[in-house]
Amino acid sequence: MQKDIGSVMGLYPTPVTVVGVVLKDGRTNFLTIAHVGVVEHGHLLVSIDKAHEVSDAAIKENGVLSVSLVDQKMLTAADYCGITKGAATDKSGVFAHHFGELEKAPIIDDAPVCMECRVVDSIEVGNFTNYILKPEHTFVQEECLTEQGKIDYEKASPVLFEFQSAQYLSTGSVIRYWQMGKEYKA
Ligand SMILES: Cc1cc2nc3c(=O)[nH]c(=O)nc-3n(C[C@H](O)[C@H](O)[C@H](O)COP(=O)(O)O)c2cc1C
Repeated sequence: MQKDIGSVMGLYPTPVTVVGVVLKDGRTNFLTIAHVGVVEHGHLLVSIDKAHEVSDAAIKENGVLSVSLVDQKMLTAADYCGITKGAATDKSGVFAHHFGELEKAPIIDDAPVCMECRVVDSIEVGNFTNYILKPEHTFVQEECLTEQGKIDYEKASPVLFEFQSAQYLSTGSVIRYWQMGKEYKA
């Protein structure tokens, strides 16, 4: 028997990401974002509270940012970036990073997957700006690639988050493959 628990956003868990920006004063800043999504096949969405003023202003001004998946080795640092304000604290040293073609999208050296993204659109909902991003370059640790050059998500092992109980969850192993539904018998 199901129970109606009201108008509760139940679409969790979602991947934890670290968004990297370059602030107006030239400092790199990292903030943690778990409200993310896939928009058609080639774009992604990050939902950022306007209260994160310095980061939000940097995204609007630069039009570029990075989005990294987080593995368990990065998790404590990622959580720190999600509870510390860049306006008051210098978070530029939290993750070793360098810059690539987009110049103001810090590429986290040890992230399993880091996407250098360009902002292509934005949608305001309440106090949040939902940025639609095109990943222009995707950097993957070599050991997290299959022989065919695809991202191996068992190896990348991205951490998930759910907001109801504020918990982090691990991802698991491959259970089946797409099109197993051909076995379905009505
Ligand atoms: C696990 C986790 C997930 C978060 N997800 C979001 C999110 O999706 N959107 C958002 O605006 N803030 C999110 N936050 C909060 C920001 O990361 C946090 O307020 C951060 O301090 C903002 O940094 P800044 O002030 O340097 O921009 C999350 C924090 C944590 C710990």
